[in-house]
Amino acid sequence: MAGSISVAIIKPKAVESGHTGAILHTINAAGFCIRGLKMMQMTRELAEEFYAVHKKREFFNDLVTFMTSGPIVVISITAENAVANFRNTIGATDPKMAASDTIRAKFGVSMQMNAIHGSDSDENALRETELLFSPEELFDWKRS
Ligand code: RTP
Ligand code: MG
Repeated sequence: MAGSISVAIIKPKAVESGHTGAILHTINAAGFCIRGLKMMQMTRELAEEFYAVHKKREFFNDLVTFMTSGPIVVISITAENAVANFRNTIGATDPKMAASDTIRAKFGVSMQMNAIHGSDSDENALRETELLFSPEELFDWKRS
């Protein structure tokens, strides 16, 4: 595998608003290699598992409802320091606080509808990859 891995999810509101292409372009332009990509709709069970770390938080139920509300685009990416570099590319959780050239600043509309997810650790990147992709959906190749 080229570099380390992270997982991106273009969230329902950003897909619905037609931002998928622009976000994919930003991911490519930032130098990430896409090794898996698909559109899907999360079941409640999958979303609860995906966000299990937030189970006790007051926003958990709303978050699961939102993430299951429509199609999403899930992306497996590789790069050197993929997790940290991708968090820099997406920006702060609250789009209002995100640096102006980040995906969340450009395409996020609220804390919940913040356009995109990025893994927060190598361990979670692996866990999320296994939750969202089967091995045949992932391709190990390197950008030239
Ligand atoms: P993500 O997991 O989606 O990449 O976002 P993150 O690491 O920046 O933020 P995290 O703390 O993991 O929260 C997950 C998602 O839950 C929603 N959220 N709402 N106070 C709130 O209303 C609140 N806090 C978080 C956001 O959609 C956030 O992306
Ligand atoms: Mg998170």
